[in-house]
Amino acid sequence: MATGEGLALVELDDDGVATAFRADVLAGLVQPQKAVPARWLYDDAGSELFEEITRLPEYYPTRAETEILSERCGEFRELIGPGRAVVEFGSGSSVKTPLLLACIEPAAYVPLDISGDFLRAAADDLAAKFPDLPVYPVEADFMREVALPPAVRELPKLGFFPGSTIGNMVARTAVDLLRSMRATLGQGSQLLIGMDLIKDVAVLEAAYDDAKGVTAEFNLNLARRINRELGGTLPLDKLRHVARWNDTYARIEMHLEALEDLEFEVSGRRFALRRGETIHTENSHKFDLRSQNTLLLAGGWTPARRWLDGEGRFSLILADWTIPRGAP
Ligand code: AVJ
Repeated sequence: MATGEGLALVELDDDGVATAFRADVLAGLVQPQKAVPARWLYDDAGSELFEEITRLPEYYPTRAETEILSERCGEFRELIGPGRAVVEFGSGSSVKTPLLLACIEPAAYVPLDISGDFLRAAADDLAAKFPDLPVYPVEADFMREVALPPAVRELPKLGFFPGSTIGNMVARTAVDLLRSMRATLGQGSQLLIGMDLIKDVAVLEAAYDDAKGVTAEFNLNLARRINRELGGTLPLDKLRHVARWNDTYARIEMHLEALEDLEFEVSGRRFALRRGETIHTENSHKFDLRSQNTLLLAGGWTPARRWLDGEGRFSLILADWTIPRGAP
């Protein structure tokens, strides 16, 4: 192979992932505020680093949500009841999903994920834990309406979207997603959704800039991935992880900041960063109770019940598919 070995490998990739990654990165690097969509943080290494993040002392969301799921079983049984098809948006967490399923006696479990590999692994794991529960994994982009398997079409549905993953989206995209979920799940469905809460800025920033540096590694891994998969020359040692609160948008932003003026290439194109300039890599929106309600209502979901963890850091909300009405 003469030249561009890395590129050739990438072009051999026929699943379109590398092409989409390149298009997103190149488009993001010509914006005034350079940015790369956060979903590209989650290659194999990134997913492992995120798992490590969930165990960090500073990263409270996973522990807080798990606490709610384990302590509120009785109320879930009462408000959700048995016999629903649980449709999880994302391939599921090995801890949170079993807590919910063990509690409500569902009729089926339908994990939706765009990545077939993660999906099958998670579905196998779940099927082993619940041998009597029918599991129907669906490889799909849940940002759009998804056709559910015929076997669950007539069952009442419960959508499950934990982790405050909705917080990764700006408001307009979050509403689009909620509306897609509404279409996917249909009339009479319920949605159980995790949403993180606005709190002390120091606590929020520490959760996204831990002392051990795992979140920094998670962020820098994106630059490593660009170098490896897109023939990039980003100097990792001259980029710094930054996590900062943006009060206007009520979100933690992750950036990669240039420690000095930099020039680099991606896919044969040249780019520059001035010292202090950043590449924006992730948003994690936080909510207060009314902004949660507003967002859900805008997406066609009526909040029915909200639970907080004991320290009031995180919330899990049960919402009902909003019945369309005329006026007012
Ligand atoms: C998986 C998107 C919910 O925003 O808290 C954790 C990702 N990024 N630390 C979050 C994340 C940095 C996480 N979500």
